[in-house]
Amino acid sequence: MDGIKFDFNNMFSQAVGKEHGVDESEIKEILPKVKKADEHLALVISDPKTRVKLSLEWTQLALQDKKTIQEIKRLGAQIASRYDNVLFLGIGGSYLGLKAAQDALAVPYYNEFSSIRKNKPRIYFEGNNLDPDTLNILLKNLNPTKTFVVVISKSGETTETKAAFIVVEDWLKKNTGKNYGRQILTITDPESGSLRKKVKYEQAQDKLSFRSLPLLKGVGGRYSEFNMGLLHLAIIGVDIEEVLAGAKIMGKKCSQDDLYENPAYMYAVLHTILYQNKNKSIAILMPFSESLKSTADWYVQLLAESLGKKYSRSISKSKGIEDWDRDVDSIVNLGRTPIATRGTNDLHSIQQNNIEGENNKVCTFIKVEKFRSEIRIPGKDDILSAQRYSELINLAEEATEWALVREKRPNCTIILPEVSPYYWGGLLFFFEIATAFEGELLNVNAFDQPGVEGYKNYMYFKLNKSGMPEGISKAIKNNPLIKDPKYIL
Ligand code: PA5
Repeated sequence: MDGIKFDFNNMFSQAVGKEHGVDESEIKEILPKVKKADEHLALVISDPKTRVKLSLEWTQLALQDKKTIQEIKRLGAQIASRYDNVLFLGIGGSYLGLKAAQDALAVPYYNEFSSIRKNKPRIYFEGNNLDPDTLNILLKNLNPTKTFVVVISKSGETTETKAAFIVVEDWLKKNTGKNYGRQILTITDPESGSLRKKVKYEQAQDKLSFRSLPLLKGVGGRYSEFNMGLLHLAIIGVDIEEVLAGAKIMGKKCSQDDLYENPAYMYAVLHTILYQNKNKSIAILMPFSESLKSTADWYVQLLAESLGKKYSRSISKSKGIEDWDRDVDSIVNLGRTPIATRGTNDLHSIQQNNIEGENNKVCTFIKVEKFRSEIRIPGKDDILSAQRYSELINLAEEATEWALVREKRPNCTIILPEVSPYYWGGLLFFFEIATAFEGELLNVNAFDQPGVEGYKNYMYFKLNKSGMPEGISKAIKNNPLIKDPKYIL
């Protein structure tokens, strides 16, 4: 992409030594696998039915038609003009993209100062935990008549979101009267799930209540920011077209089959080599920008849920449509462990371990060339006098690279010209393509998350949910958690 650059110099053996860095010969070795992965991905993406079936429809989101975008912008502007607060309820893929966008694309301290918010509503996120304190305090202090609620859940079943929604719906109902549903918008599966059912029911009573946008078929939660996140962008006045244009250009760049022209493929290949050949199983993402910390949190979910898998993938085909399943005969327990950090803050924290702890990590830095504003330090008697903040933060990034290389720690840097809607859209799409491609290289399904079901099932069982599969209930009954008081001090 014009602008975003991927600097992978420090991933190679010439920088960090053969034991810890990638050798050019290892890239040559993996090339047949890269070709196969590229061809396979291109094949499944090229067929609309397969795309939807395998949850690869996100690859098309940058190409959404103008009419859809205009409609979302109109809706966003309408909500923004009528309400002082917008409360988003959602978790995981139905939350992290929004939070990342909020912190990256709205100005810092957005909620605190109306002058910088430019008459836009304050934005709050709930339903992403079961901690009673945050929701309690928020609802006690928000004016219900001035608050619009957007509930996002693809399945409509997620406990955290559902619980918050029941509480918030009750709060609105009690405090605003019978038309409370007009202050609610849902983003959920276009056809199925209990939230969709509720929308249908409520709209049959009052057409203006429980307005709804679709979380498209074939778009999984963590790949859905360019779908479910657009209304949020419209409400806070971010240029959606710019975000999608950035993603589109990145998509074009990352559809090239030449590894040395394709930054997302290169990112995936280098990390796979370091993971599989050099035992680098920890992925540290450290943006040197306060505004990108939540984008790092978003990436944690993307990498962990996409690639942290017990089984490898088995591929089958029926009536020309490909299907992926878990190969239960092939336990692999794969996946690098992602950690979200923030430069320069965490140079005084995790960096000690990055430098001197176990050499099992790869650090990815994100460097921002131009910030929204500048601070020039006053005075002339200190070494910091006359220095600019933007130069200092980038010097700290360079210094961190240097320190890691000295200790033979592989690292790479993504360089953003600025944190603008265009480059942020490109950055997200870069990570999505890289993750999907890494899934191909590892031969795991990057678009499911069966491991998340375990805790959900246990909770449902304890909450007496009806219709639990017999096998699951039995497994929970027969394998209770054992809490021996001897081991609790
Ligand atoms: O990536 C995913 O699919 C998950 O993380 C989901 O986004 C998360 O579990 C929330 O699910 P839902 O949108 O159905 O409430």
